[in-house]
Amino acid sequence: MAKVKSKYVCQNCGYIAPKWMGKCPECNEWNSFVEEILENNPQNFKNINVKNDKPIKLSNVSIVKEDRFTTSIFEMDLVLGGGIVKGSLVLVGGDPGIGKSTLLLQVASNVSNNRKTVLYVSGEESMKQIKFRADRLGISGEDIYIMSENNMDVVIKNINEIKPDVLIIDSIQTVYDPKISSSPGSVSQVREVTNDLMRVSKGQGVATFIVGHVTKNGSIAGPKVLEHMVDTVLYFEGEKSNIYRILRAVKNRFGSTNEIGLFEMMGNGLTEVKNPSKLFLSNSHKNVAGSITVATIEGTRAVLVEIQALISSSNFGTPRRMAIGVDYNKIVMIMAVLEKKVGLMLNDQDGYVNVVGGIVLNEPAVDLAIAIAITSSFRNVEVDRSFVVFGEVGLTGEVRAINHIQQRLNESRKLGFSNCIVPKSNLEGVDIPKGLNVYGVSNIEEAFSIIF
Ligand code: TYD
Ligand code: MG
Repeated sequence: MAKVKSKYVCQNCGYIAPKWMGKCPECNEWNSFVEEILENNPQNFKNINVKNDKPIKLSNVSIVKEDRFTTSIFEMDLVLGGGIVKGSLVLVGGDPGIGKSTLLLQVASNVSNNRKTVLYVSGEESMKQIKFRADRLGISGEDIYIMSENNMDVVIKNINEIKPDVLIIDSIQTVYDPKISSSPGSVSQVREVTNDLMRVSKGQGVATFIVGHVTKNGSIAGPKVLEHMVDTVLYFEGEKSNIYRILRAVKNRFGSTNEIGLFEMMGNGLTEVKNPSKLFLSNSHKNVAGSITVATIEGTRAVLVEIQALISSSNFGTPRRMAIGVDYNKIVMIMAVLEKKVGLMLNDQDGYVNVVGGIVLNEPAVDLAIAIAITSSFRNVEVDRSFVVFGEVGLTGEVRAINHIQQRLNESRKLGFSNCIVPKSNLEGVDIPKGLNVYGVSNIEEAFSIIF
């Protein structure tokens, strides 16, 4: 009998070694190697979506507009880049219990109402459990086929029979390909099952949603390779204690990335948040010290977000700095600029900066708001709530131009703000909305003289 060959695969990054190792040389993870039996399986090397075996000239390629259909959920369509693309492979990642199954069941229901056939495969829940959730969501499920199955061969057999337009696999970590000996959720299984799904999806034009759980460190369990294989990667995020959820596109072959969709988790499922800015502004209408509103761009739309700062005298030698929702290094830098340029004595003060609503802001346009919030808290001077500010702050205290100014101004006006401080160099050619006073500034001192 031929000797069984095996390989050792890092469950974190997919690195393959002939021997067991304590530490992965690729990703430096400890104790991540698992033995897997090597199979000589020609199926693994089958072409996935190749239709032509001869190269043709790029200019001769005819473009057919992608075939899309709506989920009837505006936020979901937006994140997908304008609806579900026929034959696309979409990975939906998120913490357990965040609402992935709920979202996809709602999508399934909406699509089936539009006369599409849906097959929902759950490797985690029984039919009863799915039915129980559907009842809670008020879904009758006339055209939704459900299946509680882990074996990929059985799933594929049923796909060939039912010929669904949309396939949902909940979750990739619970289904397995019987050709592979390793356990479900292992790197080889995840890779192979995704390969199977890709073949079905591209070959038969089935739009496929794959649910993937997220590990402690925030990446989708299984290899990174999974993210490379699919067309679109969506992350469903949010604090479990909070009812708000954010659906974020981190990769999209059919649309723009960094688009977000906002949802509220209610007793009867997820509902869309129609006015995202309301979510990130605190409810108080009083002027307070240490708080200011910034207009940021998320994907293709402007969202108003409140930034708060607290400066208090430090009890220890080295003062503390803490940032939630913005980069730590950014606040350290802005505090240094404030010390040097405005003369704020912050070196014996603790500094905390927080973005309301749990959103993360990475763009430079929030700098000016952070500077104002910190100064306002330090001096204990209230900031007028009718102000929205945005602009990048440079190391010499200058306020630099940012992008999408028009959208930010329009959103500010729409939400009833009447004053805006913006970079002066941005103002050329801008159409100032009626009822909005716009102040152009070229450095932070000018901004401070207006707001304080
Ligand atoms: P679920 O979709 O099962 O999460 P995931 O598939 O990401 O693990 O959602 C689970 C949570 O959502 C659970 O804690 C209960 C809550 N929930 C509601 O608040 N309202 C609802 O209508 C539903 C179906 C679930
Ligand atoms: Mg689930």
